[in-house]
Amino acid sequence: MKKYHIEKNTIQETLVIPLFGRLVCSERFPALFSDPEAKRICGSLDYDFEEKRKKMESPAGLFGALEVAQRQYDLLCEVKNYLGEHPEAAVVNLGCGLDDTFSKADNGLCRGYNIDFPDVIAVRNELLPAGEREQNIACDLNDYSWMDLIDQTDGVVFFAAGVFYYFRTEDVKKLFLAMADRFPGAELVFDICNERGAKLMRKTWLKEAGITDVGAYFSLEDPKELSLWSGSFRQVVSRSYMRGYRDIYNDVSLLHKLMIRFCDGLVKMRIVRISFKENTAD
Ligand SMILES: C[S@@+](CC[C@H](N)C(=O)[O-])C[C@H]1O[C@@H](n2cnc3c(N)ncnc32)[C@H](O)[C@@H]1O
Repeated sequence: MKKYHIEKNTIQETLVIPLFGRLVCSERFPALFSDPEAKRICGSLDYDFEEKRKKMESPAGLFGALEVAQRQYDLLCEVKNYLGEHPEAAVVNLGCGLDDTFSKADNGLCRGYNIDFPDVIAVRNELLPAGEREQNIACDLNDYSWMDLIDQTDGVVFFAAGVFYYFRTEDVKKLFLAMADRFPGAELVFDICNERGAKLMRKTWLKEAGITDVGAYFSLEDPKELSLWSGSFRQVVSRSYMRGYRDIYNDVSLLHKLMIRFCDGLVKMRIVRISFKENTAD
């Protein structure tokens, strides 16, 4: 069977962390997560998963797996909520990696766009080829030409899982303002943590994975800070990662309960939703 290569020690390689986390959670927490696609895709990648498995099956590693699997669940809830009101909307996965949220949310009417760097999209086209009403777009998110490809006639929900940490704050701000301007009335959902969390990510996830040339930059102590970025944001709200959409506190071990409290209280891991104003000229 042909195996697909992901370039080591690059931002692109970070896609392996959530993908493998979803596989591990399906095995270790089958009552909470089921992701046969993650298993199929990992099996098709030329990557040393055995090494990763050793690290991810430690108690701290397993908690990381829970975080990324729960994050996908949370963002899927947001997408489905949006589609409830805008069934034919565009669903845009920013920094999609090999994540298949669109097919999980697909109601038969909406349109999906998955955006990532060209080398990731080349692998995605092989392993997760775009379905009907779906498009894989090879583009750096900081090159706004991707925006021209999104049909916003019936509304747009953007989501990004584990992506903006690798952006500099000024680039995140520029991107969000450009999106608010181009897509009035759209929603943007993504995960964030504070500076302590970003440091932990550098020291644990990235270092352990050998991804040492990639930094984690963007963080927020309080997502409400985003309201000050632009008059084009109608509303900014946030919820706990592990308890805000489906509370898994009672389903996990004592150690993981403590880690949930740590992440909520001291790392400020949140899912943020920004609703752009209908008309930015208002
Ligand atoms: C941690 S992975 C997350 C992948 C996916 N969202 C998931 O949850 O499985 C981060 C992804 O963001 C992509 N990414 C980071 N910066 C990007 C940029 N400037 N333009 C496009 N993609 C980017 C990386 O290539 C990688 O696939």
